[in-house]
Amino acid sequence: MFDRVARRYDLANHLLSFGRDFFWRRRSAEIVAEWNPACVLDLATGSGDLALALQHKISHAQIVGLDFSSAMLALARGKGVRHLIAADVAQLPLAEQSFDAVTVAFGLRNVHDWAAALREIRRVLTSGGHLLVLDFSLPSKPILHFLYRLYLRRILPLASAIITREKEAYQYLGASIENFPSGRAMCDLIATSGFQNVTAESFTGGIVTIYTAEV
Ligand SMILES: C[S@@+](CC[C@H](N)C(=O)[O-])C[C@H]1O[C@@H](n2cnc3c(N)ncnc32)[C@H](O)[C@@H]1O
Repeated sequence: MFDRVARRYDLANHLLSFGRDFFWRRRSAEIVAEWNPACVLDLATGSGDLALALQHKISHAQIVGLDFSSAMLALARGKGVRHLIAADVAQLPLAEQSFDAVTVAFGLRNVHDWAAALREIRRVLTSGGHLLVLDFSLPSKPILHFLYRLYLRRILPLASAIITREKEAYQYLGASIENFPSGRAMCDLIATSGFQNVTAESFTGGIVTIYTAEV
């Protein structure tokens, strides 16, 4: 599915988020920069926009992008992401404690077993290392919640079918957002997967949340 949407992935991202995705990734890179890591692993790096924002913001750090879609990795490479690995998030071909920070933007939601993926992330983080998860969430305000679900179910599949000609993929997107834990539930999932000091900051009316945690 990700190989199929790759060609129009960036355009769909920017249009369907009304350009807010630039801000979400920039804010994520700023948070990671405050941790001053020497090496950062960007999981489910896709077309590489967060990896690029990290490369730009933390120029002294080694940023490694990882994804299992060859079409997405080709896009990331073309955009200038320097270090890329083709692999599955569920089984990282990486040594224990090999990264100071791990980021995953709009990727954890797509993995079959979220808790197992978080434990795998924890394994490759150094002691005191940091995690940042950027993903969609559901607004807590009832009116926004209602309108956003309407957007996910009715407008998103239609608009994305026009942009990408891949209606199915974006029906999946809406369903995956509704089924993904957000807010308190996501914080609890991160904490029970072996992390501490879990924080959540939501943006754009609560449709996106950045979670951070420490090993
Ligand atoms: C919605 S895109 C997000 C890409 C990028 N992080 C961003 O912010 O635009 C999700 C990416 O996760 C990748 N992905 C999904 N499941 C994966 C898995 N189990 N292992 C590796 N990559 C995965 C897909 O190939 C796709 O590139």
